[in-house]
Amino acid sequence: MDIRHSSFVIRHSFVIRHSSFLLACLLISAGCGRSSAPRFPLNTEGRKPGDISEAQGRAIDETLVKLLGTPDEPNVPEGVGFDVELLRASAGSRLGLFRRHCVKCHGLSGGGTGPAAGMLNPYPRDFRTGPFKYTSTAGGAKPSLDDLRRTLRTGVPDTAMPSFARLPNEHIDALVEYVGYLSIRGETELYLLQLIVDEDEYLPVHELTALALDEGLRPVAGLWVEARTMVVVPPPEPPTDTPERLAASIEKGRRLYAEKDAQCVKCPGPDGNGDGEEDELYDDWNKPKKGVTPQQTGELAGRYMRPIQRLRPRNFCEGIFRGGNRPIDLYWRIHVGIKGTPMPAVGPAPGTDGVYRPEEVWHVINYIRSFSSKPQAVHPAP
Ligand code: HEC
Repeated sequence: MDIRHSSFVIRHSFVIRHSSFLLACLLISAGCGRSSAPRFPLNTEGRKPGDISEAQGRAIDETLVKLLGTPDEPNVPEGVGFDVELLRASAGSRLGLFRRHCVKCHGLSGGGTGPAAGMLNPYPRDFRTGPFKYTSTAGGAKPSLDDLRRTLRTGVPDTAMPSFARLPNEHIDALVEYVGYLSIRGETELYLLQLIVDEDEYLPVHELTALALDEGLRPVAGLWVEARTMVVVPPPEPPTDTPERLAASIEKGRRLYAEKDAQCVKCPGPDGNGDGEEDELYDDWNKPKKGVTPQQTGELAGRYMRPIQRLRPRNFCEGIFRGGNRPIDLYWRIHVGIKGTPMPAVGPAPGTDGVYRPEEVWHVINYIRSFSSKPQAVHPAP
């Protein structure tokens, strides 16, 4: 009874707290809240009401505006590798591409909490925390610009993320730049939250700005630039031009898949139907909402805009792959993994040999594709 009562209270206050926030967002995005230009809302995810004082919130907001501008006038300091012209093409409320196409799901600050987001599973990505799932880059690196272009063109199958293939290339490029901008802005904000709220550092805004530039923004923007050189190039596919060769490759893949070190059987399971022994999986955005007891989960999840959501490992028999169906997409999914989720990278990366050698990854792909009876959809090359 107690449990039910307390979870009711949490849910109830959650709804009240978040519906008023939602209303505020709607008013701001509709431009009728205040006559002044909109500001990015503060990232309060994971924090209790009152954790961030008004003065602390103001200091964070002012510092971020100085460094990175506002939703109508985004900015990036010189020398951090972002193109301000492209950003400006995506910004703004009237002709701004991001607000026209993306904000209803991803929210003004890219927090994944737009008005349509609550009903979706998986939730739209929160760009502010850093990881992107569908990348071609090794070793936990940021996505390449082509990775984001591909996501925008093809969408993410089996999720609400639509395809924007009909947009001209200049619009796609501007949106990709803007996603990167929201992400580096979000990570700089997390740096400031840590400094000002968690470490209780009190500094004037000009000092905060210098610190956030050197310790927050520059290092993270550097990772985005570096990622462009970290794209994994697969070796040629092994020949599968005869039924015998294909069968031999599938058999090699089957053995590699079952190997303990790769741990595939734990999640997609021995039959590849998403039915492995691991039945409680969460991505990095939902993991912090999980407590040891249901009450604790209710309490932790109540500090977030959206309730906790579980991950479902892929059912290979359906033949739908969120990161793309082309052989190269599957190659990258296995070699570099799905960042921000328990799906590990098993190919070599700087500093590690990996569980599979690059050519072995192709055998595993042939094995995985053998589960699906559907013809594989061919996506246009990005
Ligand atoms: C109808 C809702 C919706 C709209 C509109 C939408 N998205 Fe998404 N988006 C999603 C969902 C849901 C996901 C999460 C997919 C997943 O986790 O597999 C996502 C994921 C993403 C990702 C992350 C890909 C990765 O590798 O992690 C990017 C980037 C993205 N969206 C960009 C955009 C941009 C830019 C726009 C506007 C042009 C947009 N989205 C519009 C729902 C939406």
